[in-house]
Amino acid sequence: MKVAAITGGGQGIGRAIAHRFAEAGYAVSIADPDTQAGREVAAALAERRAKALFVRTDVGRDADIRRWVARTVKELGVPDVLVNNAGIGRSVPFLKLRPRDFDRVIAVNLRGTFRCSQEVARHMVRRGRGGSIVNISSTRAFMSEPGTEAYTASKGGIVALTHGMAVSLGPQGIRVNAIAPGWIETAEWKKASQAKEPRHSKADREQHPVGRVGTPPDIAEACFYVAHAGFMTGQTVTVDGGMTVKMIYE
Ligand SMILES: NC(=O)c1ccc[n+]([C@@H]2O[C@H](COP(=O)([O-])OP(=O)(O)OC[C@H]3O[C@@H](n4cnc5c(N)ncnc54)[C@H](O)[C@@H]3O)[C@@H](O)[C@H]2O)c1
Repeated sequence: MKVAAITGGGQGIGRAIAHRFAEAGYAVSIADPDTQAGREVAAALAERRAKALFVRTDVGRDADIRRWVARTVKELGVPDVLVNNAGIGRSVPFLKLRPRDFDRVIAVNLRGTFRCSQEVARHMVRRGRGGSIVNISSTRAFMSEPGTEAYTASKGGIVALTHGMAVSLGPQGIRVNAIAPGWIETAEWKKASQAKEPRHSKADREQHPVGRVGTPPDIAEACFYVAHAGFMTGQTVTVDGGMTVKMIYE
């Protein structure tokens, strides 16, 4: 049985990614600091007869990452796919952004992606069958609103880390790609106590050439594709309903 390891798999996009890989027959390992969310996903997958493991994990902490990866390898096997999805944001006016808040965003989003990849890749290399890493960046790696410097820097870093790791790990049969999602509505994919019906205005929908805001399964599908696209590595694929190619003149 193939194994997919997914960070931030408790809610939102990560939860949909966990379901997508489980539907395809993967055993799924979820790293998330939210125990309620992680247990809910593991239970939902088990109900569908999928093999699932949840380990409470903060990807900003090395000891947590090592424990998650060790338990995954022991209980499910070496991951064939790692999805670095965990991410946090801070919207703070640039002149008020505290260095420690900047550092925390980088520690979770960028350093967490690096460290999870390193820990999992070591096992992939030792096993000798290669593997696939998918990093979740953002269209904010390429464009910004005011006050989002920590987040955009982390997401831009992920794009560069993706091609860096693709070149380094290619000879070991490990492909590394990234998805850059646009606006993805996660309200329905939160843990039960927080899930709610999303609401979007006509303007929200119409700023997307496809005529709607994105959903977590939209990203899960793209993620599943790049994880299996054997001639693709080092790439960042934008999945945003066309939002970033639409010019706005007002
Ligand atoms: N939703 C969007 O519009 C959007 C757009 C572009 C990129 N993204 C990216 O997609 C990813 C998922 O975002 P989402 O909108 O589903 O978020 P979300 O907040 O709905 O879910 C994130 C999950 O990650 C977990 N998490 C938070 N901190 C963590 C940590 N330190 N270690 C491990 N897990 C942690 C949370 O507990 C939660 O379960 C993020 O990397 C985000 O930056 C989201």
